[in-house]
Amino acid sequence: MKKFIFVLLALVVLAVSVPVFAEGELIGVAMPTNSLQRWNQDGNNMKTQLEKAGYKVILEFANNDVALQISQLENMILNDVKLLVVASIDGGALGDVLKTAKDNGIPVIAYDRLITGTEYVDYYTSFDNYRVGKFQGDYIVKALDLENAAGPFNIEFFGGSPDDNNAHLFYQGAIDVLQPYLDSGKLVCPSGQIDFNTVAILGWGTDDAQARMDNLINSYYADGKTKLDVVLSPNDSLALGIANSLKAAGFTLDNWPIITGQDCDIPNTINLIQGYQAMSVFKDTRTLAERTVKMASQILNGEEVEVNNTTDYDNGVKVVPSYLCDPVVVDKSNYKEMLIDSGYYTEDQIAVK
Ligand code: BGC
Repeated sequence: MKKFIFVLLALVVLAVSVPVFAEGELIGVAMPTNSLQRWNQDGNNMKTQLEKAGYKVILEFANNDVALQISQLENMILNDVKLLVVASIDGGALGDVLKTAKDNGIPVIAYDRLITGTEYVDYYTSFDNYRVGKFQGDYIVKALDLENAAGPFNIEFFGGSPDDNNAHLFYQGAIDVLQPYLDSGKLVCPSGQIDFNTVAILGWGTDDAQARMDNLINSYYADGKTKLDVVLSPNDSLALGIANSLKAAGFTLDNWPIITGQDCDIPNTINLIQGYQAMSVFKDTRTLAERTVKMASQILNGEEVEVNNTTDYDNGVKVVPSYLCDPVVVDKSNYKEMLIDSGYYTEDQIAVK
């Protein structure tokens, strides 16, 4: 009898201490494209970590094609996924397909980019996007010592894709820091192109950023007198196009402007080491995946879902409860610690060859 009670007790202890894993449940992960390094990493981190937690995964990349992403989501729903994780291409285009998800009882996590204009999105995981832009603005203020220097310094602006909610937040964060210096005349924009819609690059394309920078150089900096001091770039894919354009126009490290970025992509990290990009913002995709996997399992296990922001991400229909991870500024002074010591890259991957 004693032995029986002991075994029973042991079983009860085991039952309460072992977390209930929704063994084998299928989760759909929709990523915008595999042509950019970061989304490859995001997709693969999500798949690996979800599988490690015991889930099965359908992972799709949509080649930046909105219709393709919608049909991928429809297929995931047909395949009876239990949850969707979606990094959207056009955040405002998914209302109908997500209504179908809702009708099928499938919860939705918006990944990195907010899904807008629909009630059928349950949670959002991302980095603090406004802070990313603020970091870029702050970096410029510090690098030019705008508090003390007389100036004026010449600056050109780039914005991200207008269909990506993040792009607006990055820009707002940076402009909020830089506007007082534009107002005081310490910063001057020779092209006069400052409005977000004028400087935005639809689709975040490197080549499109390069083409716009070519135009700016030809139209405003070709007189041999006007110095370009800064280019505000919201991310690394645009920063790369901007650097390519400057190199082709004959700029060298002697007259190279400060260029900002985000993502710490490999070519940009190499540019950073060489002096062709001043800073990037590191958003560790491993951390975001970890957080999203945790959220997914909390949702599927009916547990309380951990969020740290319930005020800022209004998608036009509702405020989406969010978990925001912390971005970090990376430049020449700390890239080793942030990117190599943390195991994000090997020395060889970012070696200047
Ligand atoms: C992401 C950035 C990325 C950009 C282009 C944004 O939504 O937050 O990290 O550089 O999309 O893919």
